[in-house]
Amino acid sequence: MQISRICTVLVTVTSTIAVSVNPLPAPREISWGASGPKPIAGQLALNTQTDKDGILSDAWDRTWDSISNLKWVPAATEAPISSFEPFPTPTPSPPKKTKRASTPLQSVHVQVQNTEADLQHGVDESYTLDVEENSDSVTIKAETVWGALHAFTTLQQLIISDGQDGLIIEQPVSIKDSPLYPYRGIMLDTGRNFISVPKICEQLQGMSLSKLNVLHWHLDDSQSWPVWIDAYPEMVKDAYSPREVYTRRDLHHIVDFARARGIRVIPEIDMPSHSSSGWKQVDPDLIACKDSWWSNDDWPHHTAVEPNPGQLDIIYNKTYEVVRNVYNELSDVFPDHWFHVGGDEIQPNCFNFSTHVTNWFAEDPSRTYHDLSQYWVDHAVPIFQQYSKERRLIMWEDVVLSAENAHDVPKNIVMQSWNNGLQYISNLTARGYDVIVSSSDFIYLDCGHGGFVTNDPRYNVMSNPDPNTPSFNYGGIGGSWCGPYKTWQRIYDFDFTLNLTEAQTKHILGATAPLWTEQVDDVTVSSMIWPRSAALAELVWSGNRDADGHKRTTSMTQRILNFREYLVANGVQAQALVPKYCLQHPHACDLYRDQTAIH
Ligand SMILES: *[C@@H]1O[C@H](CO)[C@@H](O)[C@H](O)[C@H]1NC(C)=O
Ligand SMILES: *[C@@H]1O[C@H](CO)[C@@H](O)[C@H](O)[C@H]1NC(C)=O
Ligand SMILES: *[C@@H]1O[C@H](CO)[C@@H](O)[C@H](O)[C@H]1NC(C)=O
Ligand SMILES: *[C@@H]1O[C@H](CO)[C@@H](O)[C@H](O)[C@H]1NC(C)=O
Repeated sequence: MQISRICTVLVTVTSTIAVSVNPLPAPREISWGASGPKPIAGQLALNTQTDKDGILSDAWDRTWDSISNLKWVPAATEAPISSFEPFPTPTPSPPKKTKRASTPLQSVHVQVQNTEADLQHGVDESYTLDVEENSDSVTIKAETVWGALHAFTTLQQLIISDGQDGLIIEQPVSIKDSPLYPYRGIMLDTGRNFISVPKICEQLQGMSLSKLNVLHWHLDDSQSWPVWIDAYPEMVKDAYSPREVYTRRDLHHIVDFARARGIRVIPEIDMPSHSSSGWKQVDPDLIACKDSWWSNDDWPHHTAVEPNPGQLDIIYNKTYEVVRNVYNELSDVFPDHWFHVGGDEIQPNCFNFSTHVTNWFAEDPSRTYHDLSQYWVDHAVPIFQQYSKERRLIMWEDVVLSAENAHDVPKNIVMQSWNNGLQYISNLTARGYDVIVSSSDFIYLDCGHGGFVTNDPRYNVMSNPDPNTPSFNYGGIGGSWCGPYKTWQRIYDFDFTLNLTEAQTKHILGATAPLWTEQVDDVTVSSMIWPRSAALAELVWSGNRDADGHKRTTSMTQRILNFREYLVANGVQAQALVPKYCLQHPHACDLYRDQTAIH
């Protein structure tokens, strides 16, 4: 982190043209005056009577630390600086100014209306931020501290290097900002590979800078159980190693670190499918088919969509006792009212290995897998719901929309939609479910990296059998089930409310970009998540359209190219998106010269 900061500070301003900031996500409303940037007088002091548990003062310390250490020089400005005919500037960015306003900025005044509002779903995150020409202070007003935190991450992108040793802020500026959607997340899988606590904090840092507010933490999967559970200390025998375990202290640390940045942490225990590790240590009978061959090569017998197989035994009574204890214990650790209880990808053949289930089918030959799924819903959901009256559950949409769906799933369970894009979003919202959009064709972050399963003869092919037709290795998706790779433009351009009625649109709570980690660990987790998640962040904060309703992907280009450099400078190892030439020569790398090509 220190190294990247030092290198960034070495960047110098090479020209005297007026700087132009371009915060991401673009605020909902921003207006600039023309009197020129204002100098910052030494250290900006925080001035507030409305802190909550020191959240604002801690956040301001971090913000000021970043501002003063980086002395940020915008890496990609919207102003055209290349030699070809300039394009019209599509977003409101500050006009070029050469003169300086005289009154230096001394303080940041923050006024919060309601200091008691807890960080829970739907909390008011709005803020206003004003810097007036003759004032020596920034004025931030917010309904809650969580909104004020967002004001800080905007402000820190507005205060930049003056080209020498000092700092300036572009002003006068007036910002009125609030999110389009209350649920803006990334999903991190720590079951396929372990992700260390510092790396998780690095993701939270990127989320806070881009105003994402939910870390959906897919804690475990069938491959490993990395979470310490007091009730069943034996579960972590299925962690990858004793060092790859989240202790109780780790969980509290991550929750606190996130909360200090306005981010909720919603745990997921994936049940009844994607379960083997951990559970099987408590009682082998909890898990059906754990020792079966996954049988991709004999598909009618397959017991899992990827190795290793395992599903909680839905008919075995003790399953519910253990599930209750694990769920209640984790519910006590995570303060969020919401909990994700999985529900995806039930594989029927797995249950052929359970005598409890096969007997249950034999008792009544009319029973189907839909009935079995319903049995799970009827027995497990009351346990989950019972935890508290504020409890809200999230499940993957499969429980409602798959070949093994249950008949009747309570309408107050939030559905996370990952299949068939707009079609499933439309179906679920029409039926009255609140939906979190995670469509794999648009926002899965892991797609396009080929397959991970080994001994795969499909790669051992020397020519395309039919040159006119894409095949596995030639023009095809190369073993990634959801290939190709989703670029930031694919994510940003996703109109997930297209063709929905107003009533359906109201059921969209927001979106989450999932990262499944079969091929990801600490080494690449940040570059897989960033900066693409910043495209999602703006999509769900202020949208992908300008005031005229036109897609603003082209103005987002400079914003996200700058933001990628900014993430790296702030210690988040985001991937490069373009040759640096492209960010230094705005729009020189566009596919179309026509700036309205995307609409
Ligand atoms: C598993 O059991 C079901 C229900 O008895 C049966 O229909 C199915 O064919 C079995 N699967 C296999 C691969 O034998
Ligand atoms: C499971 O629990 C139910 C209800 O408590 C009971 O009727 C049933 O006999 C139990 N089954 C077994 C196999 O213990
Ligand atoms: C949703 O999809 C299911 C399964 O394909 C179908 O039966 C149902 O009619 C659809 N409902 C709506 C409202 O589109
Ligand atoms: C949306 O609706 C329009 C008009 O009915 C239709 O032409 C288009 O195919 C729809 N788009 C999608 C993705 O369903």
